[in-house]
Amino acid sequence: MTLAVYPGSFDPITTGHLDVVARALTLFDRVVVGIAHNAAKSGHHLFDAETRLSLARQALAQLPGAEVDLVPGLLADYCRGRGATAIVKGLRNGTDLDAEVPMALLNRDLGGPETVFLAAAPAHAHVSSSLVKDVARHGGDVSALVPPVVAAALRQELGQD
Ligand code: PNS
Repeated sequence: MTLAVYPGSFDPITTGHLDVVARALTLFDRVVVGIAHNAAKSGHHLFDAETRLSLARQALAQLPGAEVDLVPGLLADYCRGRGATAIVKGLRNGTDLDAEVPMALLNRDLGGPETVFLAAAPAHAHVSSSLVKDVARHGGDVSALVPPVVAAALRQELGQD
């Protein structure tokens, strides 16, 4: 059984993330969306980890082979504990690549598996959790960028219901 861990903040999960999960499932038997702690973003999250987990679970409920979990510490340790075949990441552009390559190498040094990069489909290349939150905060329509459950959670969190 091959298992990939797809780590990130997922604050919140977007259609771009869902596309990466679906495509990773063509390569691996199981894909675990790992809600991990990004020290650089700590304190800046809109949703707490439990809410991000719950939203991702609801968004992925119909996708056989996908699961969602919290990654409490080092990603490499989590991957070893799960016997993961690979880490999966989506790349939208060169900025993503520059940020991801050092993490891929460091995760390998830390005893983690290889990182496999999937090129973001053009339809999703402009979608990021940060932009989604910005649009939502200003009352814009994010229904094409996030699953319905996330759009509803954004409205509620931002007091727009
Ligand atoms: O979506 P993000 O916030 O860019 O994802 C970054 C994330 C959460 C995957 C990264 O910060 C991470 O792996 N954090 C877990 C702790 C860890 O293992 N840090 C060392 C990574 S080389």
